[in-house]
Amino acid sequence: MRIDILSLFPRMFEGPFGESIVKRAVDRGLVSIQVHNPREHTHDRHHTVDDSPYGGGDGMVMKPEPIFEAVESVTGLIGREAVPVILLTPQGRLFSHDVAQELSREPNLVLVCGHYEGVDERVIRHLVTDEISIGEYVLTGGELAAMVVVDAVVRLLPGVLGSEGSARDDSYARGFLEYPQYTRPRVYRGWEVPEVLLSGNHQEIARWRSEEAIERTLLRRPDLLAKAVLSEEERSLVDSIKARRGFN
Ligand code: ADE
Repeated sequence: MRIDILSLFPRMFEGPFGESIVKRAVDRGLVSIQVHNPREHTHDRHHTVDDSPYGGGDGMVMKPEPIFEAVESVTGLIGREAVPVILLTPQGRLFSHDVAQELSREPNLVLVCGHYEGVDERVIRHLVTDEISIGEYVLTGGELAAMVVVDAVVRLLPGVLGSEGSARDDSYARGFLEYPQYTRPRVYRGWEVPEVLLSGNHQEIARWRSEEAIERTLLRRPDLLAKAVLSEEERSLVDSIKARRGFN
């Protein structure tokens, strides 16, 4: 996969993409991530990327020309039509595990980071193919949102996570929250690891984990369970946990 990011602040990406799993994925050639500055696609002496809004009002609006030219230079490099061009904006559709999976199937992504009071509407109407928000709050710019999207997408790419199962078993992929995990020491400050995990009985352990995951989901995110596709065994576990805990 190739990801191109347009940002007025390219250095913001150095930390998050220069460490850990994303860096390893880049180093192993599983994904290529390029950050481009629209400022390099300006033609005036001051390299102007923003201007005051027509009609008046506070703040500045990102001008269309540097964004169009930057995206066109990128899509020219990729040499294909129909590359998704995604604007990060609080106005977009809400990002989720499902959206991350959808994006992870694309060979190319172009992410445009908005700034100031927004971008000229002609960018949205005639260049952008999708708008994504990472949550119901307003950030100072689209950069952190782009990092979140890239991180969530890259970890889904084949071969990025150590064991192939890790991404498939993600809580959101299965419709449950995760069960609790423990590691050594067996007793820490008097708090013991649940006995069943030390039993060596894999069937018992699997059942305990399912119960814990279901109970946690019922308590914290009952909306997820309503959407989950459950096996017959999981369905009966849900019912017995509901009965035992007095959920309805
Ligand atoms: N830019 C500013 N706030 C944002 C958000 N919540 N999601 C995506 N991009 C943004």
